[in-house]
Amino acid sequence: MSKPVSILITGANGQLGTEFRMLENKFPHYQFIFTTKENLSIIHEADIATYFLENKFDFCINCAAYTAVDKAETEKEKAYLINATAAGYLAKACEKYGVKLFHISTDYVFKGAGKEPYKETDLVDPINYYGYTKLEGEKLVLQFHHEPIIIRTSWVYSPYGNNFVKTMIRLMQQRESIGVVGDQWGAPTYAADLALAIMYIISSGKYKPGIYHYSNLGKISWFEFAQKIKASISSPCIVNSITTKDYPVLASRPHFSVFNLNKIQETFGIQIPEWQISLKQCIHLIQQGHT
Ligand SMILES: NC(=O)c1ccc[n+]([C@@H]2O[C@H](COP(=O)([O-])OP(=O)(O)OC[C@H]3O[C@@H](n4cnc5c(N)ncnc54)[C@H](OP(=O)(O)O)[C@@H]3O)[C@@H](O)[C@H]2O)c1
Repeated sequence: MSKPVSILITGANGQLGTEFRMLENKFPHYQFIFTTKENLSIIHEADIATYFLENKFDFCINCAAYTAVDKAETEKEKAYLINATAAGYLAKACEKYGVKLFHISTDYVFKGAGKEPYKETDLVDPINYYGYTKLEGEKLVLQFHHEPIIIRTSWVYSPYGNNFVKTMIRLMQQRESIGVVGDQWGAPTYAADLALAIMYIISSGKYKPGIYHYSNLGKISWFEFAQKIKASISSPCIVNSITTKDYPVLASRPHFSVFNLNKIQETFGIQIPEWQISLKQCIHLIQQGHT
């Protein structure tokens, strides 16, 4: 019998990593190896080297990251180490052992001041320090691996971990009214859809290196996103639209960070779900107690 295709997932307790755990039963012909920062911290190059020497993989999906966007403005060294330096370590090990690598990046590599959906070839200019560390991570991955797939994604949410959807549900249950920024535009990404898209690329055998953009279909503001969440949970909470100036945060956020999704759809034949449909699925799971 031939050996099953094996897939190493790093950062497997995060939002995206957990979605691969949820998919494991749907892909019985694949062997998933889930690692967390407790048993494989990607900031330690020697540990990665040992791990790769002792275990064999066909694919690595790097879900490990430092994602505290505002904190990254003050915890600069830590953010850079995890998002940039460590991504390079992983890429080096993957290259050495012939492991195909999926690395995840962000819309924050762009300034977010445009009006047209961002293509993969558009000029990068990170909006904040987190975005800068993720861009440096992209560069190191490209430097050390000759054929990585880098997927930039945006506004990630899931039933697991902390995210906008769960914060909104909590606030809507606690308060009579809330203010949500209405002058920043983007598209949410249901982590389950992104995980499935990656598994589709792997299982279709169409692995084609390059940078790709992925989010759900649509273009909305955070305010519209919150309104839809309110409607989905039938909350009486009043949602007011506020401006970026009304909601000061440490790290700047893009006014416009919608992706052009043509490349990933055309290259792999991926069908991307509309954001409303995916939000409904996620809220259904949250209401069933998945967290
Ligand atoms: N969340 C978003 O809105 C968003 C938007 C755009 C792009 N992205 C990108 O999408 C990817 C997945 O994001 P996500 O939302 O799933 O992130 P997440 O929920 O924060 O998960 C990241 C995971 O990495 C772990 N980790 C941290 N340091 C590590 C280390 N040294 N070694 C191994 N694991 C480590 C974290 O553990 P601890 O939590 O215990 O530190 C966490 O479990 C990331 O590359 C992120 O940059 C996310």
